[in-house]
Amino acid sequence: MSAQNENPEKITNRTLRLMKERGEKIASMTAYDAAFAAVLDSAGIDFILVGDSLGMVVQGHTTTIPVTIDDIIYHTKMVARGVNRAMLMADMPFMSYASPQDCLKNAARLMKEGGAEIVKLEWGELEIEMVRRLTECGVPVCAHLGLTPQAIHKYGGYRVQGREKKAAEKMKQDALALEEAGADILLLECVPMGLAAEITAQSTVPVIGIGAGPDADGQILVLYDVLDIAPGKRTRFSKNYLEQAGSIHDALKAYVDEVKSGTFPREEHAFR
Ligand code: KIV
Repeated sequence: MSAQNENPEKITNRTLRLMKERGEKIASMTAYDAAFAAVLDSAGIDFILVGDSLGMVVQGHTTTIPVTIDDIIYHTKMVARGVNRAMLMADMPFMSYASPQDCLKNAARLMKEGGAEIVKLEWGELEIEMVRRLTECGVPVCAHLGLTPQAIHKYGGYRVQGREKKAAEKMKQDALALEEAGADILLLECVPMGLAAEITAQSTVPVIGIGAGPDADGQILVLYDVLDIAPGKRTRFSKNYLEQAGSIHDALKAYVDEVKSGTFPREEHAFR
């Protein structure tokens, strides 16, 4: 990966914030190795997430729970070697940020050993404090709200979050509190499109959606869903870009172009 000052095109947190201010859509996707990261980078993706979804799509587990910090570091190192322009985000896996000590130690490992430029953690009552601590240490953070798959056994299934008035109000308050604690990006998963639009409007930091409708500042999808090689049923909010494309590069470029032009996602990919 080139040093930032060698690449004037390098996407940073600041670039994403300016894009939000200018109303330019942000396109992002997961990747887990150098080869796919390089194709995504050349297709113009703005940031790549080494998601703990790798537990399901790469390792073959039925949830993200078994993924370890060493797994994420291993995959982040590979992705870092394939990336030149895109910002690199790495997920903090289940229970790797349950105490402030673990949170800081594991975020430092993702950055120092993995090469991550921003870390992501999933919403829980402890998250605001963790975001504050990371911010105080100069660690950029993305806070994941809505459906948080690490809590799957608590929910008892993958479901749209924030449909009831009380839950929607709580999510709006949480989003504000996370931003106030220093979150640089908010990520909303499986949230009704109206609620996602309200959170996007109230936030000064970029809001990235997955199953959150067209009004978020940007979109993220899981690479293996887009290439239709994820195990199991295809999710409503995803789209197979490979079926219309002549190559993987063209498929990923079509995704970037559709996000940027606002043609993805459509209402059929959103929840009410
Ligand atoms: O792990 C992951 O891939 C994610 C995305 C669903 C945003 O968190």
